[in-house]
Amino acid sequence: MKFKKKILCIGAGYVGGPSMAMIAYKCPDYRITVVDTNPDRIDAWNSPELPVYEPGLDKIIKKTLGKNLFFTKDIENQIKENDIIFVSVNTPTKTYGAGAGMAADLQFVEKTARQILKHSRSSKIVIEKSTLPVKTALAMERILASGKGKITFEVLSNPEFMAEGTAISDLENPDRVLIGSHETKSGLKARAELIEIYARWIPLEKIITSNIWSSELSKLVANAFLAQRVSSINSISALCEKTDADISEVAKAVGMDSRIGDKFLKAGIGFGGSCFKKDILNLVYLCSYYSLQEVAAYWESVVKINEYQQERFTANILKNMFSTLTEKKICILGFAFKANTGDTRESPAIYITRKLIAEHAEVIISDPKALKNAAIDLEGTKGNVKYIEDPYRAVAGCHALVILTDWDLYRKLDFQKIYNSMAKPAFLFDGRNIVDHRKCFSIGFNVYPIGKPALSHFKT
Ligand code: NAD
Ligand code: UGA
Repeated sequence: MKFKKKILCIGAGYVGGPSMAMIAYKCPDYRITVVDTNPDRIDAWNSPELPVYEPGLDKIIKKTLGKNLFFTKDIENQIKENDIIFVSVNTPTKTYGAGAGMAADLQFVEKTARQILKHSRSSKIVIEKSTLPVKTALAMERILASGKGKITFEVLSNPEFMAEGTAISDLENPDRVLIGSHETKSGLKARAELIEIYARWIPLEKIITSNIWSSELSKLVANAFLAQRVSSINSISALCEKTDADISEVAKAVGMDSRIGDKFLKAGIGFGGSCFKKDILNLVYLCSYYSLQEVAAYWESVVKINEYQQERFTANILKNMFSTLTEKKICILGFAFKANTGDTRESPAIYITRKLIAEHAEVIISDPKALKNAAIDLEGTKGNVKYIEDPYRAVAGCHALVILTDWDLYRKLDFQKIYNSMAKPAFLFDGRNIVDHRKCFSIGFNVYPIGKPALSHFKT
């Protein structure tokens, strides 16, 4: 079959895999190839057990894999063969040298640009899909322009806004698609080519365009604003706990103001995931780089409140369990950073579990999708840790139940059965405010939600 467009994506991760699968699904006459330097990732995409858990993804992969969607290790030839290249490699926080712990580590992006330059035999459109500091396109352009031949490269910015757990619906029906380009003739031509792809299934009014720098910056700012809302509500949850106000009631009252809106106002143990923290720190670094210290400090406080929330939650467990956790059995329900994903990157569960282990608690971790990653995260942490998928088996004999992920299945558990199987007095710390606290209290639990009065059977 002759394909109308040949598209390559470099980076077969949480973004590269699902986003390219969606293009392949919506555009059967385009050939989409995804490559990665990690051979295991490529093998996993070609196997029945996909490397990422994402509701609905397997169906789309089944319909496209081997037809117009291909995962391969042959990076060199694929660069040669494709005209449009998405770059979806990882951009973690730098761990060394200047900007360590703050700036984005751009080594993978730079390597990709050099690979593209080395293997290209024809002109190409190169699209930044990774989240990058503003002005990265300039560095990419300079590298790509350093070749000797007549080949040219047009760099576009097309950041991805999907969230894990809802990636397929986000990709299928996004709030917007953002395309940043230069306002030159070749820039506008490349932009039109990319619009043509998305317009196959996304209404034109949702495909917005801007200059490249606005596009790069908008992605960092969108994540910073979302994370800021989570930190704002979490900061108020601490005040609620001191004043007998209820954070869910406050969030409802505040969120019903149409100027504020009700999304991202769920108090909890803090945000996790691979991006919020790294992208805010990236923003903070950029502001400091441009000597905007006040702006940097403002955004850094979003991360500080997030850390404070996790510390507060852990300290609360210790304080309410009579200030000692030594040899107490604590069941952690949920290790993923949010529901409907097996991803545990930057999950608050990592910090909280380590703290509990440091107090010599015996920890039993349960999660429907994230146990493999949890074991990797806690590798090398000395202590007594078990992994049991079945929540009922995990909690039997425990002194406390600690809910860390908002999996729907935890809302539906039989808490009477759980209570009966636990050591007494039984404690329930609901780090996501997802269970019926009054009902659990009436069963006999001592219940500690976030940002709401505790329900305790102990006399003060
Ligand atoms: P990931 O770590 O899951 O995947 C990145 C992949 O790129 C890895 O498999 C890695 O092996 C591969 N890679 C690195 N260098 C390479 C190279 N030179 N050649 C070929 N492959 C290479 O990361 P991710 O979660 O998919 O995120 C990718 C980017 O998208 C990041 O910038 C992130 O901030 C952004 N983003 C992520 C999400 C998300 O939900 N995870 C959402 C929006 C944006
Ligand atoms: C986030 C953004 O929502 C995406 O738009 C963006 O593309 C992505 O980051 C990225 O750049 O990687 P994601 O991290 O997958 O997506 O998940 P979110 O739904 O944003 O949740 C992030 C964290 O905030 C989770 O730990 C979640 O539990 C927490 N959260 C979210 C709350 O604690 N309260 C809320 O009200 C909302």
